[in-house]
Parts: sequence; C-alpha cells; structure tokens
Amino acid sequence: MRPGTGKFNTAILTISDRGSRGEREDLSGPALKKILDDTGNFDIVREAIVSDEPDEIESVLIDWCDKERVALILTTGGTGFSPRDLAPEATSAVIERPAPGFAEAMRAESLKITPHAMISRAVSGIRKATLIINFPGSPKAARECLEVVLPALPHALEKLAGDPSDCGS
Ligand code: MTE
Repeated sequence: MRPGTGKFNTAILTISDRGSRGEREDLSGPALKKILDDTGNFDIVREAIVSDEPDEIESVLIDWCDKERVALILTTGGTGFSPRDLAPEATSAVIERPAPGFAEAMRAESLKITPHAMISRAVSGIRKATLIINFPGSPKAARECLEVVLPALPHALEKLAGDPSDCGS
C-alpha cells in the first residue's frame, strides 16, 4: 500500500510479441487499468509491455516484486495454447507460493460465458509480498476475468501485507 493513499500499489504487464514491437495497440492493459481505477482502491504504479520471451517476463516480474515491492501484478496475454504462449510458465518460475484460487475462479466463471475459457492456462501465486495473477489477452476476456476476482482482492492483499485480524468477522 502506498503510504498515505490507502491504495494498493499495482502493476500491469502486457505480454505480447506484436505489442512489444509496436505492431498492435495494447487494449487489454488499459482495460484492466480502467476497472482498477474505477474502484478507487488501487494505484497503478507500473505499466509495461514485453514480448512473449519467458526471460523477459520473469525479469520484469522479479523486479516489480523484489525491488518495487508492489502489492499486486496483473499480467495480460500469453496464457493460451500457441507455441509462444508462455506467461504461465514464466509466472510459475517466479512464484514462491501458489495461490490457485484466483485462476480457478476465473476459469469457472468464464466457462459460463464461453467454453473457450478452458483454453486459458492462467496461474496465480505469491512472490514475497506480491500477488501475481495471469489474465487472458483479449480486452473482453481480461475484463470479464478481473470482474470475477475483484471482490476478493482487497482482503487477499491486506492478508498478504500482514493483517493479523481474524477472517470472516
Ligand atoms: N475468458 C473469458 N472470460 N472470456 C473469453 O472470451 N477467451 C478464451 C480464454 N479465456 C476468453 C476467456 C480464449 S479464446 C483463449 S485462447 C484463452 O483465454 C487464452 O487467451 P490468451 O492466449 O490471450 O491469454
């Protein structure tokens, strides 16, 4: 949380070969940002576009977790079946504690919208004090998935930051 703001420091990483080369406009990163901004609970402190290269993805994630110490990272893109869709592998390589509930909930709710939801290999987990969640790459899919996990994020991030209060009270 950024001191004095009461908001969760958040970063958004768009993963796309074509986006990173400037050949495709990034619409999903801004779509995620708008939803978070509208809640008033999140401060978007970092935004970037990287290629589908796992080393590049991992290095940004590690930097944002270990140096920037953001509370939350949303990645968008690269979760499907194409040979270059390696966001879940890169994310899993940096995660220290799996938190599969977010990815599971997104798939479960998304299946009510489209059977293609089962193609998303998105993962979610924790590195140090940062929660990382993969989202699909289309703006529509990214929006739908963020709406699913949004209600659980404040409590999750407070717990991750060390809130000692009892749950469910
Ligand atoms: N989830 C929701 N809610 N809505 C969608 O339209 N599209 C699916 C899936 N998840 C979709 C969705 C499709 S078509 C694919 S290929 C996978 O996400 C992976 O997307 P990605 O490779 O862009 O990450």
